[in-house]
Amino acid sequence: MPVLGILSYTLAVPTLKDGVRFYEDAGLEAKLEANVATLRCPSQDHPSIVLIGGAERKRLGHVTLRAADLDGIAAGVPRAGGKIVPTSSVNDSGLWVSDPHGILYHLVERAADPMPLPAPVFEINAPGRIVRTGRSALKPIGQYPAVRPRRLGHVLLFTPNVMSSVSFLTEALGMGLADRAQDIIAFCCVRQNSDHHVVAFAKSPAIGFHHGSFQVEDPDEVGRGGRELVASARRRDWGFGRHTIGSNFFHYIQDPWGSWFEYYSDMDHIEDYALWTPTNYGMEDSLASWGPQVPPDFVHNYEAAELAFGCNQLV
Ligand SMILES: [Fe+2]
Repeated sequence: MPVLGILSYTLAVPTLKDGVRFYEDAGLEAKLEANVATLRCPSQDHPSIVLIGGAERKRLGHVTLRAADLDGIAAGVPRAGGKIVPTSSVNDSGLWVSDPHGILYHLVERAADPMPLPAPVFEINAPGRIVRTGRSALKPIGQYPAVRPRRLGHVLLFTPNVMSSVSFLTEALGMGLADRAQDIIAFCCVRQNSDHHVVAFAKSPAIGFHHGSFQVEDPDEVGRGGRELVASARRRDWGFGRHTIGSNFFHYIQDPWGSWFEYYSDMDHIEDYALWTPTNYGMEDSLASWGPQVPPDFVHNYEAAELAFGCNQLV
């Protein structure tokens, strides 16, 4: 099981200040050095996002994954249609590989993050099952601290061929296909102790970055965080809702470049991929089980600038 988890994503962006303000408002902590901004979850010691300024427009740089057996991975990359990227052209640590469509992954050997302290149980009274009695579930709004994301859970990337990009992850990087909706959207996990998805793909004529998703404490924090970020960013949003695939509650807020930031809670967990059976869903389940109207450009790949608005196939 060579890939063990996700660490960060890197984007090239026109100006750092817009991105830093947006992600700070989302609850991340920023550090600026020259032309690079790093953003981390307050409880973690490594960045989840790296922004490199000065680009003509936003584009996906790479995704950094925690991995083991880098030599073994390197041997399998050409067989899966990918390429080893010389380290001298990027930087000199870990293993750099690209998938058949040019999606760049940086694989690093690194210890797992410490196990977080358990969050309070999210109690729901239900017919015939009262678990909370004699007290309110919620405090007055003003008594809640600002929502702080706990960790980066997954990214969703655009690719011209979803199943080919999935095959690269499963064959070369040792990940697993968790579920998919036809050949339009697919979700990959790591093989042990994984969120339902760690890297996902949606079909588009070009590669690109769609969203990064951050875990918060519970569904209430998805709602509160989403509301606050919508108010500060003054951008489009989609949520509060719940995905069919992965089961997580979500709220997406559009970032300064047209891609998205997601708060999530209560995602399916895959303890052992050998015991998991992937489902191929119909397109009616590709986006959500329920939620508000989907924004018109939710699946538009702004990195494919020459393409007509709305040409992506995920609707
Ligand atoms: Fe997501």
